[in-house]
Amino acid sequence: MRQLSKSRLLVSGVILTGIVLIIGAILIISGEADKPSSYQVLSQLSESDDECVVCHAEQTPGIANQYARSDHFKNDVSCADCHTVDETYPGAQKHPEQEYYVLAKSSPAKCQNCHRQQVEQFNFSRHALPSYVAYAGSEILSPDHLALYQSIPEGGSLPGGKARNSLHALEGEDITKFACETCHNVGKPNPDQSVGDCTACHLRHEFSLEQVRKPETCNACHIGPDHPQWEIYQESPHGIAYMTMGDDWNWDAEPGTLTTVDFAAPTCATCHFSGFGLSATTHDVGDRLSWFLAASISAQRPSAVENRLRMQNVCTACHSAQYIQDFYTNADALTTAVNDLVMFSDKMMQPLKDNNLLTAAPFDEPIDYVYYEVWHHWGRTTKFGAWMQGPDYTQWHGAYELLKDLSELRELIDAKLVAAGLEPLNLPEGFPSLESARAYLYPPTEIAPTETPTEVPTEAPAATEEPTEVVTETATEVPTETATQAP
Ligand code: HEC
Ligand code: HEC
Ligand code: HEC
Ligand code: HEC
Ligand code: HEC
Ligand code: HEC
Ligand code: HEC
Ligand code: HEC
Repeated sequence: MRQLSKSRLLVSGVILTGIVLIIGAILIISGEADKPSSYQVLSQLSESDDECVVCHAEQTPGIANQYARSDHFKNDVSCADCHTVDETYPGAQKHPEQEYYVLAKSSPAKCQNCHRQQVEQFNFSRHALPSYVAYAGSEILSPDHLALYQSIPEGGSLPGGKARNSLHALEGEDITKFACETCHNVGKPNPDQSVGDCTACHLRHEFSLEQVRKPETCNACHIGPDHPQWEIYQESPHGIAYMTMGDDWNWDAEPGTLTTVDFAAPTCATCHFSGFGLSATTHDVGDRLSWFLAASISAQRPSAVENRLRMQNVCTACHSAQYIQDFYTNADALTTAVNDLVMFSDKMMQPLKDNNLLTAAPFDEPIDYVYYEVWHHWGRTTKFGAWMQGPDYTQWHGAYELLKDLSELRELIDAKLVAAGLEPLNLPEGFPSLESARAYLYPPTEIAPTETPTEVPTEAPAATEEPTEVVTETATEVPTETATQAP
């Protein structure tokens, strides 16, 4: 009996070793073995002779372990490179029980020492100062920051943008600290005059490419009824490919080298950031956009032609040029149609404005909300849904709601007009169809608009009572250094 069980043990041992070897081989083939195990992370840390690492591995093990997994650790970028500063540095704090000074909130000024291009591109994007100004206003900026803000080629506040500032004031800081600010501080100025927070996307302290390339990173902010890019992506064929097959994609590929071999379908990052196809990596997300889609009435961007080419160079790595050309023609036509429906709501409101039948205060009566949601929720969602392949958002969370609000708006407007002893609106037959909107906006005596996007009015009335700044007026050409078109 005892003999038998010994040889059994031997056989099981051999089988077990075989299984371990096979699993090991699978892991190596699938690349899993490249990632350090928790054990390896800890042993790498324990070998470090950096005093910051040695003590913080004890005191703040979470931070030390994240850091040990990063490419920074592998490349000898130290805690001190990002945190240690002179006593006089703005925002410097004396380190507890040590002689040196640190920045608890390390800033892009530190990253810039090694990643100059990324910081410069970021500074020229709407993720930088424009995000902050969107709720805080530009009056609050230092002279240097104001100059930077004004020099951003496709910066400026968007038509309709001021309405949100009044929501910010109505809600008060106790609330907005957890709302507007959480998303929009991605571009808040820092005490050392640098701008923004790289960790809004690059979670510390791993600064992992996989994490930042996955679309969940963007869903922190690009979500909800007014900018549902995350929801749209999830229902798009690209999002479905990501969710069903993304496990096999080469998430850690060197920046600038990505091809269709690494990614079978794009994530948000592929289309908006990554070097892919003929387009180089960029941190200026406006570089690939041709419209100001988030505006109440969308105008074309100053560098629309070059920007469009850069985005299309990503698409055509996977799709035929004709397929993408047709897609853009159709999405342009939809954008113009939504513009017309939103301008329709403006023109319907005009008699109330002309006769002083609206209160001066924003958001103090139901009609303000309906009028606002026409463009801020439904108009935008219809556009985003079309451009990013989310049919349910284009239709049921977009165009349908837009029509519904137009009909509600008409009732609210007529009630006010009649109560003031005036005639109700005289709207064309077929209200609220797109055809009726166009008949109302462009009566037969006037020339109808052509389908070409460049004809979209850039000075159209905004859907709020406040005066608006129209972006295209302040914008200039993109400087060539920020244009990332690869040869
Ligand atoms: C002897 C131990 C020790 C050493 C050495 C050490 N730290 Fe710390 N550090 C701490 C402790 C303890 C804290 C406080 C942690 C807490 O508040 O929970 C801290 C806090 C910090 C903070 C946050 C400060 C704040 O106000 O939130 C930073 C940043 C920091 N250390 C960076 C460094 C850097 C960079 C080095 C090396 C140049 C370093 N530390 C060396 C123990 C150490
Ligand atoms: C590549 C730059 C970089 C490196 C390297 C780095 N940090 Fe940080 N660290 C940051 C940034 C950025 C923040 C977040 C600033 C903010 O809040 O916006 C941060 C935040 C912190 C904080 C305060 C916030 C918290 O989570 O408690 C501590 C403490 C800290 N780091 C310690 C360390 C230590 C210790 C090391 C080395 C083991 C290290 N850091 C390495 C960039 C870095
Ligand atoms: C002292 C120089 C230095 C500083 C400071 C620095 N980095 Fe890095 N960073 C590097 C090096 C080196 C690499 C590795 C590059 C490579 O693999 O080609 C890197 C890689 C990265 C990567 C890509 C990670 C990967 O897996 O390749 C990101 C993202 C990144 N850094 C973000 C930041 C941010 C954000 C900051 C500021 C909070 C920062 N870095 C500060 C030197 C630095
Ligand atoms: C969940 C994150 C989030 C919250 C909360 C949020 N925003 Fe935004 N906001 C965004 C995103 C993302 C965009 C970009 C929309 C796009 O381009 O599709 C945006 C766009 C804007 C714009 C238009 C862009 C411009 O610069 O003119 C303004 C203005 C604005 N937000 C103000 C506010 C205000 C004010 C609040 C609070 C009342 C607020 N936002 C709350 C994420 C958020
Ligand atoms: C809005 C999100 C976002 C913000 C904010 C952001 N990044 Fe990135 N970053 C990305 C994405 C996405 C990638 C991956 C690009 C790719 O696929 O190659 C990336 C990649 C990088 C890389 C790797 C090299 C490269 O160019 O691809 C570095 C370095 C980097 N970022 C630094 C920074 C620094 C420094 C800041 C702050 C000034 C910053 N990032 C802010 C999204 C962001
Ligand atoms: C911390 C919040 C936050 C995160 C995370 C974030 N964004 Fe944004 N994003 C914003 C805000 C706020 C705006 C609007 C800025 C404005 O126009 O004022 C914006 C605008 C944009 C724009 C339009 C820029 C323009 O020129 O109009 C694009 C494209 C974009 N983001 C893509 C991304 C992608 C892709 C990611 C993920 C890799 C991402 N964002 C992550 C907050 C965020
Ligand atoms: C297949 C490529 C693709 C993917 C994937 C994609 N987008 Fe887009 N995105 C586009 C295109 C194309 C436009 C409109 C371009 C134009 O204006 O010419 C756009 C527009 C936008 C805008 C509107 C900017 C404005 O003008 O207001 C934002 C914000 C945005 N995308 C964020 C995201 C986020 C966040 C994700 C992931 C959840 C994402 N995108 C996924 C291609 C993509
Ligand atoms: C990395 C490859 C890749 C890139 C880049 C890419 N796509 Fe796709 N696309 C796909 C795949 C895969 C599908 C799914 C094909 C299917 O449904 O069989 C798809 C499907 C589509 C569809 C079909 C939508 C539907 O509802 O059936 C459209 C439209 C589309 N892509 C547009 C674009 C545009 C526009 C861009 C650039 C802004 C782009 N794609 C970039 C891979 C890509």
